[in-house]
Amino acid sequence: MCGIIGYCGPRAASDVLLDGLKRLEYRGYDSAGISVGHNSSLKVFKKEGKIRVLRDAVPEGVDGQWGIGHTRWATHGGVNDINAHPHLDCTGKIAICHNGIIENYIALKEKLIDEGHAFKSDTDSEVIAHLVETFYEGDLEAAVKSTVSLLKGTYGILVMHSDHQDLIIGARNGSPMVLGLGDGEMFIASDVSAMIAHTKQVVYFEDGEVVRLDRHAYSVTDMRNRPVDKKVDSISWELEEMEKGDYPFYMLKEIHEQVVSIPRAMSGRIDEDQATAVLGGLNMSEMELLGVKRVMIIAAGTSYYAGRVVAYLLESLARIPAVTELASEVRYRNPIVEEGTLYFALSQSGETLDTLMAIRELQRKGGRVLGICNVVGSTIARESNGGVYIHSGPEIAVASTKAFTSQMTALYLFVLKMARMRHMAWPEGKKFIEGLQSVPEKISRIFEQEDHIKTLAKKYHEAESFLFLGRGLNYPVALEGALKLKEVAYIHAEGYSAAEIKHGPIALINEETPSLFIVPDDHLRDKVLSNMKEIKARKGPVIALCVEGDKDATDIADDVMYVPKSEEIFHPFLSVVPLQLFAYHCALELGRDVDQPRNLAKSVTVE
Ligand code: M6R
Repeated sequence: MCGIIGYCGPRAASDVLLDGLKRLEYRGYDSAGISVGHNSSLKVFKKEGKIRVLRDAVPEGVDGQWGIGHTRWATHGGVNDINAHPHLDCTGKIAICHNGIIENYIALKEKLIDEGHAFKSDTDSEVIAHLVETFYEGDLEAAVKSTVSLLKGTYGILVMHSDHQDLIIGARNGSPMVLGLGDGEMFIASDVSAMIAHTKQVVYFEDGEVVRLDRHAYSVTDMRNRPVDKKVDSISWELEEMEKGDYPFYMLKEIHEQVVSIPRAMSGRIDEDQATAVLGGLNMSEMELLGVKRVMIIAAGTSYYAGRVVAYLLESLARIPAVTELASEVRYRNPIVEEGTLYFALSQSGETLDTLMAIRELQRKGGRVLGICNVVGSTIARESNGGVYIHSGPEIAVASTKAFTSQMTALYLFVLKMARMRHMAWPEGKKFIEGLQSVPEKISRIFEQEDHIKTLAKKYHEAESFLFLGRGLNYPVALEGALKLKEVAYIHAEGYSAAEIKHGPIALINEETPSLFIVPDDHLRDKVLSNMKEIKARKGPVIALCVEGDKDATDIADDVMYVPKSEEIFHPFLSVVPLQLFAYHCALELGRDVDQPRNLAKSVTVE
């Protein structure tokens, strides 16, 4: 959740760290700080607020060629300058940045206080600085290793010592960490976005590894001091993809990018002749795929809703029983792993700890887990037994948008493959491919309505509460629409099955509580229209999100948003887009920080 960065090289470390932190800011943005080393002393600057506040607090041209920095998403201790990282030991010579949670920090802190250490912050992280101090006898790497051997919990840690010019020690367990190899300079950070402006050559670390770096070299060892050989990877993203371009916010840019990100997720994965999908990354033979009896998709947040859409489809088209479960629940309920069940882990970032821990639990029990990730080289992608990258390009807005449709695209291709191996005939496969390929053009037509959606946002943004209602494939889309509105506009929104409201939530309906119905163009349409009438009968305002030309829905609703007509199975791709835009425009009306909503962070690396 927090972002960490370290730098050793010839440039002014403060500039590199502040630029890197700006790019990492989406990981956490309540406070930030840097520590730079110069002439055997450390200069530390820490500020509550965004990186721009820290930048103002750091004097121009501050000396120091090596240093570490941190952007925080608070877990232990309030949001203020003191709790911001880096944290120092008692001597002021050792500085640390930490991403994760030290679960046994209370016991460690009590012991350190008994030994005479003085703590300044309320964080769990500060114990790391004092432990390194305790163990330090001239060898910083050894002191860090002794320290982490006592830690329980998750961490990505960077440590520097004022007496060791140009040296940074990093250690990881459960929190991401990647090294960037520059020309006469080195970077280390919680993700590649912090270093992409400087290098594309990177090395990813695994849990239990400790890295020692200076500007010219690095070495990696495990906790038993055995050297670990590392592979150098290349980052495929371009710096420009990480810029906002002409868009005022990343969220709007990423919503619009869906017309290109969906085709990218399909690219090279369709066999037109055989009317099926080619998904080599699954690492499974046709025989093995034929042996799949059940599918379980695990994920969190928006990825979870994408998974729920696909689970419907796997059952209806491929006739494979499928469920989607919250990763955080799977891990702790001692899941039964049976032969014939195939697991998918969906994660845009590839770093969500709940999902990662669930994967490990399933794998421990013998489950085969395939990852559907966006970030290449991410921990989930690396630890999965196979998988498919969705290639959406960087998703920087905290509210996930394009990843949702790209995850669905990748898994729709899996559904196609499984269906074609079972019951689906060639002409239906062909029709499926054509339908999927037509989605981006239909999404581009939705953007023509953006002014209208903006007008609706102006009308409804003051509502205190919203209901989002859908059925079938559009039920998870309703859940996603509600999540988007909550996240970026801070409007309370409940997603429900349209059928389910009569079982309770209808009690919430009054003249001030709008209900947004996703009206499908399928066998459930008439049912949804009846559900809309039930709300109207109780004077609840109704917005219909229906197919162009749906006169009945238009007549019942107070307001309408349209999506182009499509095969019902592709409706979720279209219906989610107006909901993303609606949430975005409500947030703008309310003056919210659209890309970095309060209390959130993009990559959730704590449990
Ligand atoms: O990176 P992941 O897809 O694993 O992230 C899962 C959720 O944390 C994420 O979707 C979150 O709910 C977003 N903020 C939703 O917009």
